[in-house]
Amino acid sequence: MAIDLDRLTPVERAQRQRRRWRWAIILAVIAALFYYFVVANEYVVAHTDPQDHFKYGSIGSEVANGLPLDVFKALPVMYRDRLGPEGWKSFGLLYEDGEDLPVGFSRRIALGVERVWLNCSVCHVGTYSLPGESERHMILGAPSNNLRLQDMILFLLDVGKDPGFTADALITAINSDQVDGHLNVLERQIYRLVVYPRLKEALLTLNGQLDFVRRQAPWGPGRVDTFNPYKSIQFNFPMGPEAISDVALNASSDYPSLWMQAPRAGMNLHWDGNNSSIAERNLSAALGAGVTPVTVDRAAIARIEDWMRSLPPPAYPEPDTIDLAAAEEGAGLFAEYCAECHGIGGSAGYDYSRDRHPYLGQVVALPAIGTDPGRWASYTPDFSAAQNTLYAGYPWRFRHFRKTDGYANHPLDGIWARSPYLHNGSVPTLRDLLEPASARPRVWYRGSDEFDPVRVGYRSDKAGGGAFVYDTSVPGNGNEGHEGRAYGTDLTDAQKDALVEYMKTL
Ligand code: HEC
Ligand code: HEC
Repeated sequence: MAIDLDRLTPVERAQRQRRRWRWAIILAVIAALFYYFVVANEYVVAHTDPQDHFKYGSIGSEVANGLPLDVFKALPVMYRDRLGPEGWKSFGLLYEDGEDLPVGFSRRIALGVERVWLNCSVCHVGTYSLPGESERHMILGAPSNNLRLQDMILFLLDVGKDPGFTADALITAINSDQVDGHLNVLERQIYRLVVYPRLKEALLTLNGQLDFVRRQAPWGPGRVDTFNPYKSIQFNFPMGPEAISDVALNASSDYPSLWMQAPRAGMNLHWDGNNSSIAERNLSAALGAGVTPVTVDRAAIARIEDWMRSLPPPAYPEPDTIDLAAAEEGAGLFAEYCAECHGIGGSAGYDYSRDRHPYLGQVVALPAIGTDPGRWASYTPDFSAAQNTLYAGYPWRFRHFRKTDGYANHPLDGIWARSPYLHNGSVPTLRDLLEPASARPRVWYRGSDEFDPVRVGYRSDKAGGGAFVYDTSVPGNGNEGHEGRAYGTDLTDAQKDALVEYMKTL
């Protein structure tokens, strides 16, 4: 009789059973840890300094809209013929020494992939240099004067459509010496099967949403169309020629300054005064940077909000050069002509009081202000109704957006650092703004960050170096309005010079 050697004793059977359980539990724990640390969890670099947080901190835009870091680095290698040796920098992005990402880009690891995308500072940092000086100064919270966002968007749309943009080409670029991505066999498969197809699809979707940007007049450096892309991306508004007029289509706007937000509470801001809540303006801006109501990092934005509340306006660079007698005469003129709409400087800083300045933070109707109608027309009642459904279901749901009848009066603190002027950046200097429109520069160069301390603003006469030709006859670029007696354009030349001298002190 054969002996069944495989027969287990009852004790052995119980032991085997227990071992199986043990393995099941260990595997479950490993899976749970993997899920927690790799799939569900996200990693961000913490920046303790508020300025570093503003420049490089993540607000949550990477997850839904970001590019994997390796792709971000590979695209300038693949498209060197288009971007040149400067790569992303050719879109006016600012790189600081020792940083591998430009100002305004942040990183976050989600689903195990490191992604990069935009934060607030990409649009809200300006630079200037003084005449005869090569050093470039950066002002955090000043309007960007360099960013060519339209060119960057069109580049990404074209990449999505390019038949040469294949998984193999992307992998080769990532593994090139310039990027040094070292994708191994497994990672290459993940790129081929997951990363590349998703990216391609996302870029093609974006192409469908933003195709209309190709029909728009050039934005040039330092401007963005605030609301048309927002209409299309967030709400699928139709943007074809049958759905939108040429006036409303060409709505590119200058970037505003971000300092001293606390005294701006309750003012109707954005260029057309469409929202009186600072918190909503910030959350709305974050959507523009690519966050979604699900991915938004409200704590990260709250830190920026806090910092902006009392961020001081930048002081005029060479205060000793200000002609004090002229500035004093200018202060009197400013109090007489400008303060009721804009507020005024004071010994304790800018006076934002809306009791003393009844029109500050209010809207001047379009026929009275007379500036270019594009930005105003782009913001429609339908769109404001749609915006007020955003973040539905959360306590911070939008409720303050509204259609207004014109453009808002803003405080003019730090105004020397906010050129070019008016909502569409159509007037290069403060001195030009005090001339009637017929005497303002009609075609000028935008993109120099050399500061003109006489007329106050960036120089507008410097061709070359990729300067952008700003033609005021193009739709959306009109430089008319803010003129007539109430706006100081009838004053004498000496009085206008005095006003400009005074505005250096704000
Ligand atoms: C893509 C560029 C861009 C990004 C990114 C961006 N902004 Fe802005 N921001 C603008 C523009 C343009 C306006 C003016 C909008 C208008 O009225 O047309 C603006 C307006 C504002 C205003 C209102 C200022 C005023 O006085 O009216 C605040 C506050 C603001 N942004 C904060 C932020 C914050 C906070 C972030 C990041 C969460 C951010 N922005 C990201 C472009 C940007
Ligand atoms: C009736 C109200 C009113 C008066 C008076 C007024 N402004 Fe304005 N100002 C506005 C409005 C509204 C805008 C925004 C117009 C736009 O961007 O289309 C503006 C814009 C400006 C800007 C551009 C701001 C920027 O960020 O680009 C400057 C500078 C300015 N005004 C200076 C003055 C000066 C100087 C005076 C007095 C000589 C003056 N304003 C008088 C309403 C007024």
